Amino acid sequence: MRVVVGISGGIAAYKAALAIRELVLAGHDVHVVPTASALRFIGRPTLEALSRNPVTDEVFDDVASVRHVALGQRADLIVVLPATANTIAKLAHGLADDLLGTTILASRAPLVLAPAMHTEMWEQAAVQANVRLLAERGATIVGPVAGQLTGADSGLGRMAEPADVVAAALALVADPAAPGAAGTDALAGRSVVISAGGTREPIDPVRFLGNRSSGAMGVALAEAARDAGAAVTLVGANLHVPAPDGVALVEVETTAQLAEAMEAHAPADVLVMAAAVADYRVDGVSDGKRSKEEWGEAPTLTLTQNPDILAGLAQRARQNLVVGFAAETEADDTALIHRGRAKLARKGADLLVVNRVGHDEGFGSVATRVSVLDASGVIAEAHGAKASVAREIIEVIATRIARDQRTGEGEA
Ligand SMILES: Cc1cc2nc3c(=O)[nH]c(=O)nc-3n(C[C@H](O)[C@H](O)[C@H](O)COP(=O)(O)O)c2cc1C
Repeated sequence: MRVVVGISGGIAAYKAALAIRELVLAGHDVHVVPTASALRFIGRPTLEALSRNPVTDEVFDDVASVRHVALGQRADLIVVLPATANTIAKLAHGLADDLLGTTILASRAPLVLAPAMHTEMWEQAAVQANVRLLAERGATIVGPVAGQLTGADSGLGRMAEPADVVAAALALVADPAAPGAAGTDALAGRSVVISAGGTREPIDPVRFLGNRSSGAMGVALAEAARDAGAAVTLVGANLHVPAPDGVALVEVETTAQLAEAMEAHAPADVLVMAAAVADYRVDGVSDGKRSKEEWGEAPTLTLTQNPDILAGLAQRARQNLVVGFAAETEADDTALIHRGRAKLARKGADLLVVNRVGHDEGFGSVATRVSVLDASGVIAEAHGAKASVAREIIEVIATRIARDQRTGEGEA
């Protein structure tokens, strides 16, 4: 496959070398298109040696071969890593003042962007709007993730690991006819964003209000979706279990951070809200650790309701399949389903996975029993280890997407 690797001018440009190497070793024909700024971070000889192809950022080099459009026209896949705020803005507005811009405009290949920048830049409304515009037009956004940034600071904005970007990009163009190494190809070429784990709402720097979710179900879903060929982003809130290889992990702590990460990665073909999010956050989070002297004998915490993430996603992103989870303590099966149907209607999601939880039921890596509901009622049931239940849920999702595609539903 012919892959164009675009590199823009951020510190993470050196990590593009790892992605190029991985793609070349996997047998792909890699053509690197750096921006002028990228070449101030990583040298052309490195890029030429690793890609085994000539590298230029010049629109006016090799004019006889019409390079400014030829690279894009012949590409099967374009991956830009890192994608700077500047390059994202230019792509969102169709600018073509360098070779990367002309190459992307001249191409019909799937476009994958791996943004990298400081948290303040990433959170700017302008950057978020540009990312959303590109995603709505079909680009796949992988990351960014939370972690160490260029300086001593850390936060959301670090580029997803190069291997995860490559895995997500290759999953997008996976040949549905190729024998899948693992699992089926039911979601080949699809982007899936899954939230997992349990959010924490800080009280002070050392205490929080949390829940018992381990993230095992969401992680199992991410693994099953990856095995079904999807490009998977996992938004993990305080996971107790390791994230699977080959998915882009975005780590968050609070409900507000989780909401922001889900919004940033929507729209995708499938959004799954499997995380247990706090319905309330604490008012007036203290900067210092609260002492007993300060709190007294019977302290009171004032809580404020958090926005409903699932309902928000379902409302704003009609082109996605939106799947919610409901963990209920209702002992009676009929009452459980009744509550689930009411919740599905209230939230406006396409599917709701209902499971029973209790002091000894539902959390951690134990077996689980779920019912999958749509507006017509229960459409599937699964019982067993979370990995096998996750595979069944992903099958239901893949079937639903295939059906919607056939009927044209969900293409609004
Ligand atoms: C040391 C250094 C690190 C930078 N890192 C980033 C970065 O991680 N993300 C980003 O969006 N811009 C970063 N910039 C700013 C970009 O280099 C600048 O916006 C440039 O115009 C990007 O051009 P390009 O998008 O054409 O590559 C950095 C600049 C410097 C000097």
